[in-house]
Amino acid sequence: MDAPTLLHRLARIVGEQHVLVEDAETAPYATDWRKRYFGRARAVVKPGSTEEVAAVVALCAETRTPIVPQGGNTSLCGAATPDTSGTQLIVNLSRMNRIRALDPVNNTVTVEAGCVLATLQEAADDAGRLFPLSLAAEGSCEIGGNLSTNAGGVQVLRYGNTRELVLGLEVVLPSGEVWDGLRGLRKDNTGYDLKHLFIGAEGTLGIITAAVLKLFPKPRAQATAVVALNDVRAALRLLTHIQERCGDRLTAFELMSRICIELVTRHIPGVQRPFDRDYAENVLLELSDTHAAGNVKEVLEAVLGEALEQDLIADAVVAASEGQAQKLWALRENLTEAQALDGKQVKHDVSVPISHIAEFIDAAQTALEREFPGVRVVNFGHVGDGNLHFNVAPPPGMDEAAFMQKMRTVNRIVHDATARFGGSISAEHGLGVYKRDEILRYKSPLEMEIMRSIKRAIDPLGIMNPGKVL
Ligand code: FAD
Ligand code: MLT
Ligand code: ZN
Repeated sequence: MDAPTLLHRLARIVGEQHVLVEDAETAPYATDWRKRYFGRARAVVKPGSTEEVAAVVALCAETRTPIVPQGGNTSLCGAATPDTSGTQLIVNLSRMNRIRALDPVNNTVTVEAGCVLATLQEAADDAGRLFPLSLAAEGSCEIGGNLSTNAGGVQVLRYGNTRELVLGLEVVLPSGEVWDGLRGLRKDNTGYDLKHLFIGAEGTLGIITAAVLKLFPKPRAQATAVVALNDVRAALRLLTHIQERCGDRLTAFELMSRICIELVTRHIPGVQRPFDRDYAENVLLELSDTHAAGNVKEVLEAVLGEALEQDLIADAVVAASEGQAQKLWALRENLTEAQALDGKQVKHDVSVPISHIAEFIDAAQTALEREFPGVRVVNFGHVGDGNLHFNVAPPPGMDEAAFMQKMRTVNRIVHDATARFGGSISAEHGLGVYKRDEILRYKSPLEMEIMRSIKRAIDPLGIMNPGKVL
């Protein structure tokens, strides 16, 4: 089939104004957030309903047109970017942004895939509930993207990854058939739990069009602090210290090394250093309680006071108001942006068992230093989940482009160290294209073959996000 006929038929399904074809219009959708991947799309199509998605996918199956599902396009591993062939069709879900139902008794919300995460958080809040998924991209990432990457973020410690927040899904399969799995059940042992295949599949098995997600009681008291520490081992001891005393009231525990504070305060206007002097490590932590009278601030102060007496921590600032808490969070939430403004870095998203974090950092840092003397490690992340963004910037004075050419060597050092401590090379961002080939070194051939068999069974024509993950 030639291009005009396909585009004409797509326009008949979704309306002409929802099919973008000119390069100038499609380029922003065909470029990733970090501006590392520049693809070319045959077109960008924006369906407005599940029926329209199904018709678009059926047409693609008939014409063997490869599809790239896309939400907010904030992927950090090129997962939502088409290749450069100009043959792949971006199916962008942003128009499907309705909240279909909210059930405060069942504590569930049924939401379409294109709903922006922050919009869903607000809707839950308006209903006196919490939707706990939270990440710095929440103003633009969409639920379909969150589900397809099994996004993590800053509240995993208490509420789990996106996978843990899902009860049901509606998915358009690569054939164009619609699987209606929109069940709001917390217990359902009726065979294979199919929704988990699509969660974290990065759009390679189908297009998620809607989901039933869990809601939680809203925290009515919160306390936020940034703590200064002399090294990462102290941060890990602090984690245990607080968990033993506060249990699951600890909702965030985020590490930021000295260089992170330096980058974010240099590049982001209005963001201020938390302390008068610099410390090797800093942790942003938050306690939450559903009791309005829950004295979490006093609890936090007492627990940190004890930690100070035991020389676990070097200093601490506890937010005195909501505004101050937001200022502390700004240190953490602007880190990715600050990194991007600072120049190119080799980004990582690794996890290791919490008990091995310090050894992992020592091993990776030593090996990097040996290969690239003076290298700068921009390490931050969800240390309470064992997840570090162990990013690597060129040594001062080294040409950025020359360093980026060594990306494979840098990856190899960091990922081999990760594997040595029983870790994963993608904790939360996914594989996309960035880590598609890299994963072959770390997953067994058997595991890869099981994944390929699932792909073949569900997408025999191979039209769903080809070139990603596998
Ligand atoms: P996209 O980028 O559009 O797509 C991501 C993947 O999902 C692609 O493979 C795409 O094909 C697929 N996809 C999208 N929608 C659908 C659908 N409806 N059906 C099937 N497949 C689909 N990630 C974290 O986990 N934790 C963080 O803390 C975090 N912080 C971030 C901070 C910043 C500043 C940025 C830019 C990114 C961050 N990310 C983080 C990465 C990113 O935001 C997440 O991966 C997010 O879940 C992607 O959502 P999206 O809507 O932008 O998806
Ligand atoms: C984060 O935790 O801020 C994100 O995963 C983004 C990043 O790794 O830069
Ligand atoms: Zn992260």
